Amino acid sequence: MAYLPRQHLVMYKELVDKLYINQKLSYEEYLILIKNREQIKDYVAIKAKEVANLHYQNKIYIRGLIEFTNYCKNNCLYCGIRCENQKVERYRLLKDEIVYCADIGYDLGFRTFVLQGGEDSYYTDDYLVDIIKTIKKNHPDCAITLSIGERSFESYKRLKEAGCDRYLLRHETVSKHHYETLHPNNMSYDNRMRCIHDLKNLGYQVGVGFMVGSPNQTDEILANELVFLKELNPEMVGIGPFISHKDTPFAKEASGTSELTLFLLSLIRLTLPYALLPATTALGTIDPMGREKGILAGANVLMPNLSPQGVRKKYLLYDNKICTGDEAAKCIQCLKRRIQKIAYEIVVDRGDYALLKGN
Ligand code: SAM
Ligand code: FES
Repeated sequence: MAYLPRQHLVMYKELVDKLYINQKLSYEEYLILIKNREQIKDYVAIKAKEVANLHYQNKIYIRGLIEFTNYCKNNCLYCGIRCENQKVERYRLLKDEIVYCADIGYDLGFRTFVLQGGEDSYYTDDYLVDIIKTIKKNHPDCAITLSIGERSFESYKRLKEAGCDRYLLRHETVSKHHYETLHPNNMSYDNRMRCIHDLKNLGYQVGVGFMVGSPNQTDEILANELVFLKELNPEMVGIGPFISHKDTPFAKEASGTSELTLFLLSLIRLTLPYALLPATTALGTIDPMGREKGILAGANVLMPNLSPQGVRKKYLLYDNKICTGDEAAKCIQCLKRRIQKIAYEIVVDRGDYALLKGN
């Protein structure tokens, strides 16, 4: 390790303590921590774990992920299911198949289902409303999360009225310029942000997030991400490393690292003490112990796959994605064992933010 004057380390520690107490820092202060992460990362992780344990003890909330379509009209430069990738074998799950996945998940102890997919106009509002209502009728004690990209205010409103509780829409980056380097011209940063604000205004529990180490991301952008998250105060934040996909324009770009992802997870935990923070599959893909390390860095959610085995290998956003082989029951058993080894436990609970936060 490079020689580091003692007073520098003391200053970084004081910043972490300030974040621990005030739950926020200025842009400049976040930037100092990010730029000097090598020296301060162990202390940040210890404090973040302390905060997670204070609010959530050793409990981990699970969300059953149903990847129901890999058709997508968009062409994000980083994403394996972008519409121009002709090597993808496309699939759609029909209503009965989606409902069946939720039924299986319920029996395995899941009380939240995340329906995720590309932006696929096959799933009209009417069709989605029918799916949401059926799952809710079968399992009134469950929460439904949608993650199907940008839609109109009216569409989000109908889906909410049908019983959808939560919506995951990563903002992808807080910087408009950076957004434009990750997306084609017909996609707009302003519309992404409009969607996030519509979802908030409609009363959804909202999840945002970004990829760590995406091409052209800078420390300055990351410091702004933390300021943005504090202001928005979302219920959930999903971050995971960018991992290159061989059939995208970013095939040759370097992937993000688990070290930086873990460090940012800890800063987010300290900034938003009650947030629901997943240790993502992407983190488990670049590091075999990534999900366990994510939990020890302050994450408190896991999102195992409930999609039918036959389609899992077709929903490849990035190369070498893990957990594409086993059936759902096997996956959850494996995760439970792994989590027990680090002295955490998976709970059968919807894990609603407001209830967990106590308001
Ligand atoms: N279509 C919906 C949307 O845009 O929100 C949901 C599906 S989209 C594939 C889910 C998330 O996957 C994106 O928000 C993005 O952050 C992440 N993702 C896509 N490509 C990735 C890659 N190469 N590495 C890591 N994460 C990626
Ligand atoms: Fe589908 Fe980005 S490629 S939303």
